[in-house]
Amino acid sequence: MTDLLLLPGDGIGPEVIAEVRKVAAALTPNLAIEEAPFGGKSFDLHGTPLTDETLAAAKAAKAVLMGAVGGPKWASAPRDKRPEAGLLGLRSGMQVFANLRPALCFQPLADASTLKREVVEGLDLMIVRELTGGVYFGQPRGIEDLPGGGRRGIDTQVYTTAEIERVSRVAFELARGRRNKVTSAEKSNVMESGLLWREVVEDLHKREYADVTLEHMLADNAAMQLVKNPKQFDVMVTDNLFGDILSDAAAQLTGSLGMLPSAALGVPGAPGLYEPIHGSAPDIAGQGIANPLAAILSFEMALRWSLERSDEADRLFAAVEKALAGGARTPDLGGKLTTAAMGDAVVAAL
Ligand code: NAD
Ligand code: IPM
Ligand code: MN
Repeated sequence: MTDLLLLPGDGIGPEVIAEVRKVAAALTPNLAIEEAPFGGKSFDLHGTPLTDETLAAAKAAKAVLMGAVGGPKWASAPRDKRPEAGLLGLRSGMQVFANLRPALCFQPLADASTLKREVVEGLDLMIVRELTGGVYFGQPRGIEDLPGGGRRGIDTQVYTTAEIERVSRVAFELARGRRNKVTSAEKSNVMESGLLWREVVEDLHKREYADVTLEHMLADNAAMQLVKNPKQFDVMVTDNLFGDILSDAAAQLTGSLGMLPSAALGVPGAPGLYEPIHGSAPDIAGQGIANPLAAILSFEMALRWSLERSDEADRLFAAVEKALAGGARTPDLGGKLTTAAMGDAVVAAL
């Protein structure tokens, strides 16, 4: 059985996944690792970003680690053949509805953020993003011609009680093991799905999680509060689209988008999908300067959440911290290390 299925993908994806391979060879040499084509690369080979074979291999593995997908090369492919559509298909096919995006400011990077040290130092925030519903999947969607000329683009934001409840439950459970606070972000002031979101979270809290502090916050205010005073948050639960946006903002609090890993989880026992939250970074792809730490830390999350290897996860986390403390920095963090040299620094720290 495959322990870990690697989907390197496009752009900087294969560059950062190569560093995960290096780390895995040093840390967990007996891990059964396989690789499959995905994203634009799969489109080029097979005419589709996600083949039935790759999806079946993902469901059969214990964990899946994706690099990144997309890029200008596939920008004009039909919508359902784009690399990003493959990623949505993978998430929904694996039914990984809860996406954990931890924004953690490593002590040595307290000065690497564009925000002031006192704002980000010690930051430890967990964003729980709903991942298989909302406007990313709602029907109807499409672009249609209007009779009088012009066109109309349609997306549908839709959530059910069950979808909101299961992701909120993950947030409450996580909070209990942390600082016991959940902030739920939505737009209940203007959106029906946002109003339902607030009511369902409120109900669940009353019924089962009254011991956890719950706060509701409108998503626009949450964006502002994230950059004003991010340490007020412990766990933030939010929908698919707001979670996408708020987590990119949170990443910068940690120093760089290249630092933020993620774990997408479904029902207990099902394989998790692990991915750095950044994209394929076409502007730096091929230069060997991408920060591999988001991918390496995604591997760390896979060890912890899917592979039952928390000891190795602890060791890897400590090694990343040690490498950073020793001054290892890729250009996004203000340093000069290449992607490979950063991977080497982590291996050396192991
Ligand atoms: P991006 O995340 O690829 O890049 C945004 C900026 O951050 C760029 O300046 C990039 O150089 C920088 N950056 C990102 N990751 C970095 C890293 N590891 N090290 C150093 N710098 C890093 O977002 P974008 O440019 O808006 O999107 C590019 C493509 O990636 C698009 O096709 C988009 O759809 C796709 N995308 C994919 C994923 C994914 O696969 N999970 C996520 C986001 C975007
Ligand atoms: C992310 C990305 C994806 C998303 C895209 C590439 C589909 O931005 O993982 O954050 O919007 O979910
Ligand atoms: Mn994103």
